Amino acid sequence: MIRLFQLLVLAITLGTPATCQLDKWAKAAGLKYFGTAVDNPALNNQGYMKIARDTDEFGSITPANGQKWSNTESSQGRFSYGSGDAIANIAKQTGQLLRCHTLVWYNQLPGWVSSSYSKDQMQRIIATHIQNVAGHYKGQCYAWDVVNEAVEDDGKMRQNPMYKAMGIDYITHSFKIAAQTDPTAKLYYNDFNIERCCNAKINATYDMIKTVKAAGARIDGIGMQGHSRVGKSPSKKELKDTMAKFSQVVDELAYTEIDIRHLKLPASAADNQQQAKDYLEVVGACLEAPKCVGITVWDFTDQYSWIPGQYSGEGEACLWDRSYNKKPAYSSIVSLLQSAATAGLRSATSSPTAAVTARADATAEVVVVTTLATVLARA
Ligand SMILES: *[C@@H]1O[C@H](CO)[C@@H](O)[C@H](O)[C@H]1NC(C)=O
Repeated sequence: MIRLFQLLVLAITLGTPATCQLDKWAKAAGLKYFGTAVDNPALNNQGYMKIARDTDEFGSITPANGQKWSNTESSQGRFSYGSGDAIANIAKQTGQLLRCHTLVWYNQLPGWVSSSYSKDQMQRIIATHIQNVAGHYKGQCYAWDVVNEAVEDDGKMRQNPMYKAMGIDYITHSFKIAAQTDPTAKLYYNDFNIERCCNAKINATYDMIKTVKAAGARIDGIGMQGHSRVGKSPSKKELKDTMAKFSQVVDELAYTEIDIRHLKLPASAADNQQQAKDYLEVVGACLEAPKCVGITVWDFTDQYSWIPGQYSGEGEACLWDRSYNKKPAYSSIVSLLQSAATAGLRSATSSPTAAVTARADATAEVVVVTTLATVLARA
């Protein structure tokens, strides 16, 4: 019994699947990070913050709203950074990466930007906005979602105020200004419904990226948001096919806003098993796509998920429920990351020493858990 007790303690110390953490294993498996969005209303929730700041859990954070145009320049030429800074400061303190989000988007856009402007005027408006906002966060952002959601589902360019004034040049212009303002940030194009190969929107996005790069702008990455629905989520193969296509035009890919919502609530145990499977397709696809650098969930707890507000009657889309219990999807993801790390599916991205330690941990853990299972089976 003493031996059993010691094994239990050892297993718990090393981290059983139930306590094991996402970013630690994502890095050991060769990803740059496993991240989460964080929104300002959650900042004074201590239970929430303990998890959000846990660098073994999340290696990257994304301000859910704080850096959007409506928050940073709600009236022309008057910039405010309070909401964005509150979240960027967490990353400064913890050393987490910051995925900055987003500079040019048609939504949460202040009314004054939506007036009708000449091409020159809009060009100046965009430049001023990016120079100020990306300038303010210069050096802090691992990546910037420079342009968000510029393409419609049918493959046409979205007729937003920027497009109406400048045509597709607004995208080229935005990426050029962002590159001048914060040269070390990875510059991303970010959108939804560009996960399942290969719809009209994916094809149009691919063409748009080529056009913009041919016009002299740098685009480093494509962010696939990855909002999807339990039981209707793309398969790993569909996801990988898209990434193979996008890999031809950019150096990096990432899932930037993952949540997988139930269409009927409350979710049953079987629904949550299906949700776990759906999450695994995404994580598995990222692990198997050489250019996929990381995965961000669009918040980690149902308590702060945007889904119920957007899709009435749907939800429970996150890895933790609203009472902070981890769902089956959480432990499934950790197990998958652990096996990828142990199998050396791709080379670990953390420093060689850290990677070796993480792998040694992984092996030790598998051994301990296996031994423990054997002992328990005999007892
Ligand atoms: C997207 O492009 C691929 C490859 O060129 C093509 O096979 C497919 O039919 C296209 N899809 C649509 C919806 O246009």
